[in-house]
Amino acid sequence: MQKFSLFFISLIIILGISYIDAFTRHDFPEDFLFGAATSAYQWEGAVDEDGRTPSVWDTFTHSDDKGNGDIACDGYHKYKEDVKLIAEMGLEAFRFSISWTRLIPNGRGPINPKGLRFYKNLIKELRSHGIEPHVTLHHYDFPQSLEDEYGGWINRKIIEDFTAFADVCFREFGDDVKFWTTIDEANVFAIGGYSQGIVGPGHCTSTKSVKCSTGNSSTEPYIVGHNLLLAHASASKLYRLKYKTKQRGSVGLSIFSHGLTPYTNSKDDEIATERAKDFFCGWMLKPLVSGDYPEVMKRNVGLRLPVFTEQESEQVKGSSDFVGIIHYTTVYVTNSKPTPSLLPNDSNFFTDTGFEIIFTGNASVSSWKSVPWGFESVLEYVKQSYNNPPIYVLENGLPLEHDTTLQDSERVEYIQDYIGAMLNAIKNGSDTRGYFVWSVIDLFELLAGYETSFGLYFVNFSDPGLKRSPKLSASWYTGFLNGTIDVVPQDILQLESNFSASSSL
Ligand SMILES: *[C@@H]1O[C@H](CO)[C@@H](O)[C@H](O)[C@H]1NC(C)=O
Ligand SMILES: *[C@@H]1O[C@H](CO)[C@@H](O)[C@H](O)[C@H]1NC(C)=O
Ligand SMILES: *[C@@H]1O[C@H](CO)[C@@H](O)[C@H](O)[C@H]1NC(C)=O
Ligand SMILES: *[C@@H]1O[C@H](CO)[C@@H](O)[C@H](O)[C@H]1NC(C)=O
Ligand SMILES: *[C@@H]1O[C@H](CO)[C@@H](O)[C@H](O)[C@H]1NC(C)=O
Ligand SMILES: *[C@@H]1O[C@H](CO)[C@@H](O)[C@H](O)[C@H]1NC(C)=O
Ligand SMILES: *[C@@H]1O[C@H](CO)[C@@H](O)[C@H](O)[C@H]1NC(C)=O
Repeated sequence: MQKFSLFFISLIIILGISYIDAFTRHDFPEDFLFGAATSAYQWEGAVDEDGRTPSVWDTFTHSDDKGNGDIACDGYHKYKEDVKLIAEMGLEAFRFSISWTRLIPNGRGPINPKGLRFYKNLIKELRSHGIEPHVTLHHYDFPQSLEDEYGGWINRKIIEDFTAFADVCFREFGDDVKFWTTIDEANVFAIGGYSQGIVGPGHCTSTKSVKCSTGNSSTEPYIVGHNLLLAHASASKLYRLKYKTKQRGSVGLSIFSHGLTPYTNSKDDEIATERAKDFFCGWMLKPLVSGDYPEVMKRNVGLRLPVFTEQESEQVKGSSDFVGIIHYTTVYVTNSKPTPSLLPNDSNFFTDTGFEIIFTGNASVSSWKSVPWGFESVLEYVKQSYNNPPIYVLENGLPLEHDTTLQDSERVEYIQDYIGAMLNAIKNGSDTRGYFVWSVIDLFELLAGYETSFGLYFVNFSDPGLKRSPKLSASWYTGFLNGTIDVVPQDILQLESNFSASSSL
C-alpha cells in the first residue's frame, strides 16, 4: 500500500524548517568521527580481475538489465585518486567493505595475494592521509560458490566460513583497522534477499507479481536472520579471544532503520508502530542485548522463528561493541489485520508483522523525504530500549536523480538537518560516536542502479575516465568539518553562490 497524504507531507515540511538550532563541528566531541561511505561491489568494479570470483550480487544484477557493478566507479584502480579527494574533503573516516571473493575467491581456503595487496594498499593510503578506516565484512556480496554449494546464509555452514573470512581480515588488516562491522544492515539483507527477493541472492516464494527461482518467504528470512546473528557473534568472539588485546578495536553489527511513526492517532496504529520497531530493529537488537527475540515476534512467527539454544543465546548476548545504524527516512505505520486465509506457507515477513508501511511520498528511493526528527527518534529509541549502546551512523544521505547538476542544495539541507538532529540526540544522552554520509561518490546503487545517486562527488559514468566532480554537498561538508561553516541558512546561500562561481564538470 502506498497511500499518499498531502497533510502529512506538509506537516513534515513545516516541522523540518524550524527544526534545528545553529551548530558547528565544535559542538561534537573531538573524537567523534565524521566520514562518508562506499561498499566493495558498488565502488570497486574490476569484478573479474586479479582472481576475484562472482558474489551473489554479481549473479543477481546479471539476471536482468538494470545495470551492474562490473565497472562501477572503478575504485579498484582509482583508489588513490579517491583517497586523495576524501582527504581534500577533510573527511576524518572512510567506510568501505571487503569483497569476500576478492580476498578468498573460493569462499573458503586460500587467500588471493592480489586481493590481499589491494586492501593493504587501500588501508595504507588512508592511514598515510590520517583517515580512519571503518570496515564492513559483509555488504550483500557473499560468495556465489557458497550459495551453490550449500545454500549460503540459509545453511549454518556459513557461520564457520564467515568466521574464517573474518579471521583473515582481523589478522591481515587489524593492526590498522580499529572499527569492524560484521554485517551491513542485517535485517534488510534478510528481508530483501529472502522474503521479497528484491536483492541478491533473490530468494522468495513466487507470487503473481514476484518471481524467484528459489526460496520460501515464510521461513528463510528468519533462518537467515538467525544465522547472521550467530555469524556476527562468532566473529566477534574470535576477535575478543585472539585480537582485541593487541589490536584494541571494536566489532559491531549494523541494522537498517526507518523512522517509524503511527499513521493515525488510533490505539491500533500506535501498537502497530511498536510492533514494527520490534520486527525491524528488535529482531536484531534484542538478541544482542538479552540473548532472545522480542515476544511479539515469537507469537506472530511461531515455530518458523528459530530458537536460540542456551549456548547461542550466551554467545549473541553482548557480542556487539557498537550498533551500526543505517537511516534515510521516516515512514508511517498502520495496523493491518493478519489475513485469516493466509496459510503459513503463504506468509512472509510483512504478513507476519501485521502492519503496513506508508511512505510519505511513494515507496521509490527517489522520493524519500527529509524527516530529521524521525532520525532523532531512532537514536532515542535505541538509547532507551537497548541500554544506550555506542552507535555509529554508518549511512545517511539523500538520493537525487543522477543528473548533471552539481548544485545539490537539497542534499546539503538534508545532511545539515540530520546532523543537527543527531546532535540533539547526543545532547540528550545518546552515545552516538560517528556519522558517515552515504556516499562519498556516486555509486552503483542497491535499489536504484545508476539512476539515483547519493554521492558528495558526481561520477560521470559515461566518461571512460569516470571523472569525479565535487558537488555543493562536498564543499559544504568540507566547510562544516574545517569549521568555516556554521550551520545557519545564510551560510548555505553564500556557499551556493561561491560554489556556482567556481564549479564546472
Ligand atoms: C516453506 O517452508 C515451510 C516449512 O518447511 C513449508 O511448510 C511450506 O510449505 C514452504 N512453503 C513453500 C512455498 O515452499
Ligand atoms: C500451501 O499449503 C497448502 C496446503 O498444504 C497448499 O494447498 C498450497 O498450495 C500451498 N501454497 C504454496 C504457495 O505452496
Ligand atoms: C514515485 O515518485 C518518483 C519521484 O517523485 C516518480 O518518478 C515515480 O514515478 C513515482 N512512482 C510511483 C509508483 O508513483
Ligand atoms: C531525553 O532522554 C530522556 C531519558 O532517556 C527521555 O525520557 C526523553 O524523552 C528524551 N527527550 C527527547 C526529546 O527525546
Ligand atoms: C560525461 O562524459 C561524456 C564522455 O566523455 C561527455 O560527453 C559528457 O559531456 C560528460 N557529461 C558531463 C555531465 O560532464
Ligand atoms: C574550509 O572549507 C572550505 C570549503 O567549504 C574551503 O573553501 C576553505 O578553503 C577551507 N578552509 C580551510 C582552512 O581549510
Ligand atoms: C564565500 O566566499 C567568501 C569570499 O571568498 C568567503 O569570505 C566566505 O567565507 C565563503 N563562504 C563560504 C560559506 O564558503
